This record gives sequence, structure tokens and C-alpha cells, in this order.
Amino acid sequence: MSPYTVTRTLPEDATGAALRADVLQGLTADPKSLPPKWFYDARGSDLFEEITRLPEYYPTRAEREILLTRAPDIAEATGARTLVELGSGSSEKTRHLLDALTAATGLRDYVAVDVSESALTGAAEALLAERPELRVHALIADFTRSVALPPTEGPRLVAFLGGTIGNLLPPERAAFLSSVRALLAPGDSLLLGTDLVKDEGVLVRAYDDASGVTAAFNKNVLTVVDRELGADFELSDFDHVALWDRENEWVEMRLRARRGLTVKVPELDLVVHFARGEDMRTEISAKFRREGVDAEVTAAGFAPSRWWTDTEGRFALSLATAV
Ligand code: AVJ
Repeated sequence: MSPYTVTRTLPEDATGAALRADVLQGLTADPKSLPPKWFYDARGSDLFEEITRLPEYYPTRAEREILLTRAPDIAEATGARTLVELGSGSSEKTRHLLDALTAATGLRDYVAVDVSESALTGAAEALLAERPELRVHALIADFTRSVALPPTEGPRLVAFLGGTIGNLLPPERAAFLSSVRALLAPGDSLLLGTDLVKDEGVLVRAYDDASGVTAAFNKNVLTVVDRELGADFELSDFDHVALWDRENEWVEMRLRARRGLTVKVPELDLVVHFARGEDMRTEISAKFRREGVDAEVTAAGFAPSRWWTDTEGRFALSLATAV
């Protein structure tokens, strides 16, 4: 028996069914798109970890700076006895929060929710090696759909870090925030990491690094579709594109066909054509302003309470209380 609990909130096959539905919808739409959640197989999760260490990719360092300095404030403001982390990945930044909460409230339970089983189990094992007293609940789940939390003690703090909320389209964000609110009781808290609107060059370089790690991360989604659905995407047929959408205030990643091509997806009985130069959107990463974050959490049934940025004002962590 493993020393932590692993729970699939969905049947074993649900991930496959969701992938098939998403790929079918995305490849038959105009313009074509693929949802960013399918980047994160074991290789994609490793590539993302590599991205967080790139000189151009500031969000992880900026958020870590805020967490390091504000973790005691967060612990004191929330009084949380359970920490729930959505899209926990490697749980690397979570350690500061866990330490502060343990000191402030005697936190006992940590619930990690992620679609990546490899990232979850790796993180759970590493955490338990350091903190044998912690009860770690690893939940393999898609946090944009329904999640059922284990019956741990309140008050709860749900942390959604890294700026991952920016990967959702505005209506998806509204639905997501409301579903998080529905998991909570009044007085529970939400800690949200949001990347902020800034100079276009800085933003684009963060998603188009000189060493090409982000390009490899972007193209990895094709490897996932090839492996899982028998498709015959060739990575060399696509270029990595990152651009700033000024109107929507989001960075968009795309894969651009280098030539006209036909791709077969046997598992979907699908044949798709790409024109030379045709773009397929693989990710949006929205950048925020304080007014926008406050309005969105308020609409979902939270009262915004705290707002912290790194010293350079690039990234924000904000706290909101469920009302
Ligand atoms: C982990 C979703 C926050 O949007 O910045 C990094 C993913 N994509 N480089 C982001 C990502 C390209 C990242 N999030």
C-alpha cells in the first residue's frame, strides 16, 4: 500500500474519452485548436519544469518570491487546516505554504489535484519523504470538470498557482471559479496566482525562449495525440508560434503548418488537412489586471481580500474569501 492516497475521481478510461472528444472537436473546428491540458504527459511535465528554469520565463520565479515573503501572511489570513492545490504539478512552490500553514495552524492535510499522474505521484512521494506527518491525498482529476474533495478538516484553502487560470477562456474561468466556490464553505479561501499585463516583448520571449524548450513543449502535444490516438503528426511539419493578443490581453501559442499536409487520426476515424501556414491554437495564457481579478472572483461568490505582487510587479498572488 502506498503511504498516500491516490484517487481517480473519473473512471480509468475517462482521460482517454476526454482526449478523444477534445481532439475531435479541436481538429474539426475552424480555426483548429487543441486544449493545453494535453501538454502534460510525463515528457510534457518534464519540459514544463525545464521552462520554469529558463531565464525568459519569469512567472515561476516571481510567484516563488511572493510565496516566500507572504506565506506567513497567507497562513494567518486563512487559518487553513487543509490545503488543496489545483494543478499541483511538482508541488515545488507549495512547500513554503505548507511550512507556514503547519507553523500557524498545525495543518494536517494536503490535497493535490492534477491531470498528470506521474507529476502527482512523484510530488506526493517527495513531499512525504520530507514530511512524514502530512496526510497527502493525490487526486487524479481534471479540475476544470467536477472534483470531489476528501472529507478533511476546515477551514480550507484552495490554491491555484502558476497563472494556470490564464489557460482558460473567460467563460471557462467564470465556470471554473464558480465550481471552486461550490466546493467551499463560507470563510474558506482561494489563493490565486495570476500573471500580469506587461511589456509585449517580455511576454512573448517568455513563451518563445531562445533555447527552444517552449517550442518542444508546444510540439509535445502532437506526440501525445500520435501515441494516444494513433495519429501521424510529424513534429518537423510545424513551427512554434507565440504572439501577444492585445485586445484579449493573452499570449497565444500556436503550431503553424510548414507545408500543406494531411494527418490521419485512426482512433477518431478522422483525416484532417492543414494548408501551408495554417495555425492551430494550442494555448492561451491570459495576463491580468487587479480590477479584472477582483471582478471575476467577486462574480463567483468570493470577497477579494489581499493582493501581493513581486518586487518587479510582474505577477500577483491574491487571496479571496468565500462568502
Ligand atoms: C503552467 C499554464 C501557467 O501559461 O505560462 C509555459 C504553461 N505554456 N510556457 C503558462 C506554459 C508555455 C504555463 N502555465
